Amino acid sequence: MLENLRAQPADKILALMAAYKADPRDDKVDLGVGVYKDASGNTPVMRAVKEAERRILADQPSKAYTGLAGDPAFGAAMRQLVLGDSIAGDRVAAVATPGGTGAIRQALELIKMAAPDATVWLSNPTWPNHPSIIKYLGMKMGDYTYFDDATRGVDFDGMLADLNGLAKGDVVLLHGCCHNPTGANLTTKQMAQVITLMQEKEAIPFIDIAYQGFGDGLDEDAQITRQIATAFDNCLIAASCSKNFGIYRERTGILMAIAKDAEQQPLTQQTLAFLNRQNYSFPPDHGARVVTTILSDPDLRADWEAELEETRNGMLSLRQQLADELKRLTNSDRFDFLAHHRGMFSRLGTTPELVEKLRADHGIYMVGDSRMNIAGLNANTVPVLAKAIVSAGI
Ligand code: LMR
Repeated sequence: MLENLRAQPADKILALMAAYKADPRDDKVDLGVGVYKDASGNTPVMRAVKEAERRILADQPSKAYTGLAGDPAFGAAMRQLVLGDSIAGDRVAAVATPGGTGAIRQALELIKMAAPDATVWLSNPTWPNHPSIIKYLGMKMGDYTYFDDATRGVDFDGMLADLNGLAKGDVVLLHGCCHNPTGANLTTKQMAQVITLMQEKEAIPFIDIAYQGFGDGLDEDAQITRQIATAFDNCLIAASCSKNFGIYRERTGILMAIAKDAEQQPLTQQTLAFLNRQNYSFPPDHGARVVTTILSDPDLRADWEAELEETRNGMLSLRQQLADELKRLTNSDRFDFLAHHRGMFSRLGTTPELVEKLRADHGIYMVGDSRMNIAGLNANTVPVLAKAIVSAGI
């Protein structure tokens, strides 16, 4: 049997992680995988997470199964974090999932079940695992223009022109905030136009929100998600806790499916629970319990929010430092977009050849499409990167 296996395409982000690890140079710089790093290059366990874990270890009475949807308190806490009071709670079906990727996978399975003929539209570019999972599930896939290589902002006219081709019932995957891989985001005004077009076309929104709190703030980053969710009868939301709680390896995420009304919710909820049962039965609990503990304790929550703000402001400051240094070196404002982008990533907008040159000549690792993880920088490496960008002729 196993002789029939064929090598699968390597995920470019994971391949880059391995190449970085194997590089013996001491001064190499990792701007690859989307993991937050502090100024000394560590990915710290957040203070509130440590304290929540201490309490859970001390007090947890049992490790018996929760439920197929996970702990309902996690569902309620995450619904509040992502949706605020924008949607009546009795319209929201939710299941805990192994990370944001688990939520995306379950959302796609749900779409496959409920709308097998729908095309799922992705931004071009998007996180590479989106098309990979859709292809694996044998679903129909389309893409819409998103990034403008000239301005390094959103090509909004191109996006609208492509979305004009939506068929009734198609699904549009939108990034809730901090677009991965570009860092370029729609304004709420532009999103309002996208919403109007999608309503005209009777399309369904599917939001991937993996960086809430990394862009403009916790509520600010949820604004577009809430704007979309309130405008449609149905909406799918895959949210990740990996980044904003720094609990990457705990695999903590949630899929929320917003039903038209309270009558449509129970069947939706039952279907999500069924899908969990088919794929992995009960979802992981530890990370979800940490998140619930933090979100429901005012002191822990305040501490978490404060640390998240430090993280966010640190990334904004690195963006500004890099844009300033490049302005100084090039005597031009053509890298100002770096300060305007939001979240962990910026797409430099250069060729794979020049990305490879940065790696070969300077030990600087970024994804081949020129996505850099801004959080991989620090005050010492900002000038190194800026110099390398200029000397590579980018
Ligand atoms: C990334 O885009 O680098 C992260 O979401 C990590 C991953 O799984 O690819």
